[in-house]
Amino acid sequence: MGFSRLTLILVLVSLPAIWAHEIRPATISVDGIRAIAETDDHYVCATMDWFPSDTCRFNDCMMGNTSAINLDLSNPLLAKTIRAFGHLRLRIGGSPEDQVIYNVGNPRYPCHPFKRGGKGSLFGLTTGCLYMWRWDELNQFFSKTGAIVTFGLNALYGRQKQGKSTLWVGNWDPSNVAALINYTISKGYKIDSWEFGNELSGSGIGARVEAVQYAKDLINLEKIINGLYRNSNFKAKLAAPGGFFDKNWYTKLLQVSGSGIVNRVTYHLYNLGAGNDPNLISRILDPSYLTNSASGTFRDIERVIQEHAPWASVWVGESGGAYGGGGRGVSDRFVNSFWYLDQLGMAAKFSTKAGITLLLINLSIQTEIETKVLKHVNNNLRAKEKSVQKESCSIEVKVSETGKSASDKQSFREEYHLTPKDGQLQTQTSLLNGNPLNVTDGELPRLDPSLVPLCSLYALPPCPLPSL
Ligand SMILES: *[C@@H]1O[C@H](CO)[C@@H](O)[C@H](O)[C@H]1NC(C)=O
Ligand SMILES: *[C@@H]1O[C@H](CO)[C@@H](O)[C@H](O)[C@H]1NC(C)=O
Ligand SMILES: *[C@@H]1O[C@H](CO)[C@@H](O)[C@H](O)[C@H]1NC(C)=O
Ligand SMILES: *[C@@H]1O[C@H](CO)[C@@H](O)[C@H](O)[C@H]1NC(C)=O
Repeated sequence: MGFSRLTLILVLVSLPAIWAHEIRPATISVDGIRAIAETDDHYVCATMDWFPSDTCRFNDCMMGNTSAINLDLSNPLLAKTIRAFGHLRLRIGGSPEDQVIYNVGNPRYPCHPFKRGGKGSLFGLTTGCLYMWRWDELNQFFSKTGAIVTFGLNALYGRQKQGKSTLWVGNWDPSNVAALINYTISKGYKIDSWEFGNELSGSGIGARVEAVQYAKDLINLEKIINGLYRNSNFKAKLAAPGGFFDKNWYTKLLQVSGSGIVNRVTYHLYNLGAGNDPNLISRILDPSYLTNSASGTFRDIERVIQEHAPWASVWVGESGGAYGGGGRGVSDRFVNSFWYLDQLGMAAKFSTKAGITLLLINLSIQTEIETKVLKHVNNNLRAKEKSVQKESCSIEVKVSETGKSASDKQSFREEYHLTPKDGQLQTQTSLLNGNPLNVTDGELPRLDPSLVPLCSLYALPPCPLPSL
């Protein structure tokens, strides 16, 4: 998790470097006045999953102790990293979430830690247990780090799996969730939003629930949340369904649950394919692949929300690029940031939330900049890179000041150039303005920009071709 912010900045500045080797020197005009989208202050978020440490995918047991049940919350670097975001949005959820029992009140099933399940078990696991001592620890950690928490609730509780199919039927039993929320409120813990279920929408991942049934359960959950929070001056929001977007299923869910029930419509996106796919890196470096594999979903969900849930906001609740735990030697490396930036930017553009242009170069609001909409600029660059295969590696951004007196020469702009160490895209060391961003003596690196005269050209020096 904690790398998100680094990644965000990193990609913003290094994307031109990659384009650069494939195009001739270009002039980009940046519109510093009109952002194409805006995000809120907590746009970047991280997920903490439930997987036990012996979880393996694609012959790779990469989970380690990173889940809500086994993460070492006393690790000072972890706390510092989360704090460094200001208030990081933290979602607790993921595949095993619907099988978690909360050890409070009178759960209808025994509460035991996750074990390897038998044949036909969901994700190869038995049910798991969230003990209240661990919930206390987690909440102390959230509070200490200033995280804004979304907690994924067990939406399969009390339902039955229908035969051999993946469909789960019957009403959701809210008693265990009610006991957890009641406990949470009584302890004064602040959970920003409760999210109902994980990947049960559409054809589901491992398990699915029909949209009409899901909507009924959401109405019920909303009543329970209302009741439990009635004496608090704060009321947690309701997020759902945290699954893969399926137009008919989402539409039905929002129509049947009705106005104002779901505050945050959440969905998951894994547009790079499987983590063990040998083409992962070439997909990450192919702008048209990144666009084509995700923009349809962004566009469709935006329409569904406009039409059926205009009161709600849209969140990409989980997005890892490559599913199944990510790609070895790819997802935790510099190269992954190209995918991440692209996704952040696209999501912002479609869900009317973020200003990616302003992040590229932080321009003063008093400065009018000669401009073309960045969106078009990007697209042009993308189109060009296919046809021109020059090894030229320089790119210039002309920032020309208009409507401001020439005496304003003292102004500076801040530049953040992030590059991979030694030009290796699969490095784990990123350089900021040439200096490695490494943890030293237990402290996170500072993210200091270099100050450059406002109206000077923005230029990236020739760089080696990425070696893959
Ligand atoms: C996870 O934590 C447990 C308990 O502290 C420890 O025994 C185990 O070695 C850790 N596993 C990994 C993969 O770090
Ligand atoms: C809620 O919590 C209070 C004390 O914290 C307890 O007395 C009450 O029985 C709980 N109610 C439910 C519905 O769990
Ligand atoms: C970006 O520029 C604005 C306007 O000049 C300024 O207020 C803000 O502090 C700058 N942000 C950063 C991160 O430097
Ligand atoms: C930064 O840290 C990485 C990982 O610990 C290490 O491999 C690399 O050599 C370090 N780089 C510098 C310049 O200290």
